[in-house]
Amino acid sequence: MADDIFKQFKEHSVAEFFKKNRQMLGFSGKVRSMTIIVHEFMTNSLDACEEAGILPEVFVQVEELGEDHYRLTVKDNGPGIPKTHLGKALGQMLAGTKFHRYIQQRGQQGIGAAACTMFSYLTTGQPAKAISCHKGKKLTANISIDFKANKPVVQEIEEVPTEESGLTVISEYKDVRYERSNYGVYEYIRRTALANPHCSITLVEPNNEKTAFPRSVEANPPRPFEIKPHPLGIGTHDLLEFAKHNKESKRISSFLQETFARMSAGKVDELRALLPTMDLNKNPQNMTWEEAEAMVKAFGQLRWVSPAMDSLVPIGKGQVEISFRNIFNPDVLVVTERTPKVYRGGIPFMIEVGIAYGGGIAAAGKKGEVMRFANRVPLLFDSGGCAITETIKTMDWKRYDLREFEDEPVAVLVNLVSVHVPYTSAGKQAISNEEDMMDEIKFALMEASRGIQKYLSGKRRANEIATKRKVVNRYVQQLAGDLSTLSGEKKAEIEKKLLDIIEKKYGEEDEENEGGDEKKGEGPNANENSGSVKKPAEKEEEGDADE
Ligand SMILES: Nc1ncnc2c1ncn2[C@@H]1O[C@H](COP(=O)(O)OP(=O)(O)OP(=O)(O)O)[C@@H](O)[C@H]1O
Ligand SMILES: [Mg+2]
Repeated sequence: MADDIFKQFKEHSVAEFFKKNRQMLGFSGKVRSMTIIVHEFMTNSLDACEEAGILPEVFVQVEELGEDHYRLTVKDNGPGIPKTHLGKALGQMLAGTKFHRYIQQRGQQGIGAAACTMFSYLTTGQPAKAISCHKGKKLTANISIDFKANKPVVQEIEEVPTEESGLTVISEYKDVRYERSNYGVYEYIRRTALANPHCSITLVEPNNEKTAFPRSVEANPPRPFEIKPHPLGIGTHDLLEFAKHNKESKRISSFLQETFARMSAGKVDELRALLPTMDLNKNPQNMTWEEAEAMVKAFGQLRWVSPAMDSLVPIGKGQVEISFRNIFNPDVLVVTERTPKVYRGGIPFMIEVGIAYGGGIAAAGKKGEVMRFANRVPLLFDSGGCAITETIKTMDWKRYDLREFEDEPVAVLVNLVSVHVPYTSAGKQAISNEEDMMDEIKFALMEASRGIQKYLSGKRRANEIATKRKVVNRYVQQLAGDLSTLSGEKKAEIEKKLLDIIEKKYGEEDEENEGGDEKKGEGPNANENSGSVKKPAEKEEEGDADE
């Protein structure tokens, strides 16, 4: 019996795994699958253009070929992909230029493009057609996947000279559906344009309707730079992997300095003092598990400078305001940008939050709208298990004069920026509940909510004054008549004087209310200035966090 069991023992490739578990890549549900495919191509195009220093121009066309059967064309003006890498880029899982690097990019796994090729092949039996214009050559090839080997199958069609640059992928899918819903391609692209004002995107929908999302900024955002891993962010196994794959350094001491951020010769000396029996002159390839474990423990005992925080590039306060205003034209808008922090000990991240209230949000009938982004990529699905949604749920909105979040005309935008986004799955739609991140999201929400509260309380006071004034005004006629009878003065004059007194009292209060601190920068016109809120001291905020 025991032997029989192991007759079943087999090896599988990662492609076979995802073929069987395509839902883990986000391919579940027809509308969602369609959006996920566009998302994978769009993120690749934007990453490639930005990395090559090109202002992105992306063309997306969806054509309906039959029931739940579509052809998708995505064309960009990026650098294209060299012939040597084209097959692997589009037809091999866990292959690419991003997985091994600590740099703020949209893609990070090396799965997305091949996942689309897989889905296309599985549902239609057709390869994806790639046209790569790279360094003067235009290569056209059909690409599919050998699932057993997780290897690309490439059929080259032609290679001709070109002056163009960029990648076009034309692929067909069944089991998908195009729909203009909150989860559809149109909404995904709209939100992408919102968070990426430097991109020009054109969408042609199956009914041939063409929508241009023009760029509103004529330059790419500053290029985030790559950082080395920070000693506090790695574990024993990571350290051993780095040591085994290191080729340049012949000694552990130089390997440490070359591999990790903030590792100076002085720090190596401090490590030496903490690990007197370890030979730091030996070849890192020979490092043992015990040594790596002791080293990681010693990392934790030293004081380190934080990782380079300017490796992160947020959307930016000004831009979030412009985008929000364009979409919602709210009564009030407050945008908060937190300073960068680290999670898991050494991975930098930062949070930006915008909260908008009333105006166009109310007019559109929207309530409690949440827009999640990670490195400028809209996250439309799996909101339930996402750190952003979870944190929003823990907010005590009543404290900020908002009753139930879901009942208010309020829209919240949260963008997480990081050199590594901790997604909950390969589908990259939800952020895992990292405590450090959730704290930061909460502080940012609280900071922005305070601005909204000031506006709301100002508005409430204005309403109260107006009501009082109305009530008092009601007695003017009667009182003027009575006083006229008693004093013999003219009723009209008494009435005028009474109205003057009321105007003086409530008019002043009204002015105070309007001119008071409460509205500065956060009133109805807040979105005309910076919309900024004074940054309260960290301590004060953290004290507030006990909601
Ligand atoms: N439009 C493109 N232009 C240039 N290079 C591209 C393009 N699309 C993909 N690539 C290259 O192909 C690689 C594989 O893409 P893929 O989407 O599979 O993985 P990724 O973007 O690295 O990570 P993720 O799985 O998170 O999307 C990329 O790392 C990139 O080097
Ligand atoms: Mg990708």
